[in-house]
Amino acid sequence: MAACGDVSKKHFGHCARHPHPTTQYPGYPVKNHIERVLFDEHEILKGIDRVAAEVTACYGSEEFTVVSILKGSCVFASDLIRRIPVPLELAFVAASSYGDGTTSGELKLNFLPAEHEIEGRNLLLVDDILDTGRTMHAIKQELIKMGAANVQTCVFLDKPSRRAVEFESDYRVFEVEDLFVVGYGLDFAGRYRNLPYVGALREEIYAETLTR
Ligand code: IMP
Ligand code: MG
Repeated sequence: MAACGDVSKKHFGHCARHPHPTTQYPGYPVKNHIERVLFDEHEILKGIDRVAAEVTACYGSEEFTVVSILKGSCVFASDLIRRIPVPLELAFVAASSYGDGTTSGELKLNFLPAEHEIEGRNLLLVDDILDTGRTMHAIKQELIKMGAANVQTCVFLDKPSRRAVEFESDYRVFEVEDLFVVGYGLDFAGRYRNLPYVGALREEIYAETLTR
C-alpha cells in the first residue's frame, strides 16, 4: 500500500488508507458540530494581548512561574506566555472533574509540580474556564500548602453565574453566559480542544454522546 504521505498522489490526503474524510469519519467537518461561534481567533488573540500586558505590568521585574492546568488550559497558556516578554518558568498540574458529560464530577488532582518548582515561587495559575470555581480553588490551596510565595490566577473564560464556591480570578480574558462551550482547549468528552475558536455545541451532539 502506498504511504499516505506520498506527495505524488493526485488527490493528496485521500489515499487508500485515508479515504475522503466525509465517508471515513461521520463527524467531519467539525464545524458542523458547532451551533455558533462565540469568540473567533482574532478576538481571542486580541483578548490575550490585553491580559498578557496586565500580567506583565503586574509582575514587573519579579520572577514568576506559570502553572497551567491540564489539559484544558494548554492552548491558552501557550498563547499567553508568548505574549509576556520577560523570563518566566512553566509548570503543569493535571486535574479532572468532568468525565464525559457537561456536569461537574468529583475533582481529582492527577499530578502536581515538584516541590522545588513551587516552594518560595510567585505563581500564576492558569485555567481554561472558571465555572463552579472548585478546580481553581482546590489547586490554589494545594499550591499554597506546598509553600508557594504567592498565587495569582488567570482564566481564559469566566462563567460567574455558575459559581459554587467563593472564588474570583485575578485576570480573565472573557466572561461567558451559562452555556457549555468547546474549542481553544475546551473539550466535550475529550473532543474539540483543537478548534481555533470558542463555540457552543449543537444539542444533538450532546444528546448523542450522553445517551451512548
Ligand atoms: P470548575 O471546577 O467547575 O470551575 O470547572 C472547571 C473545569 O470544568 C474546567 O477546567 C473545564 O475543564 C470544565 N468546564 C467547565 N465548564 C466548561 C465548558 O463550558 N466547556 C468545557 N469544559 C468546561
Ligand atoms: Mg475539561
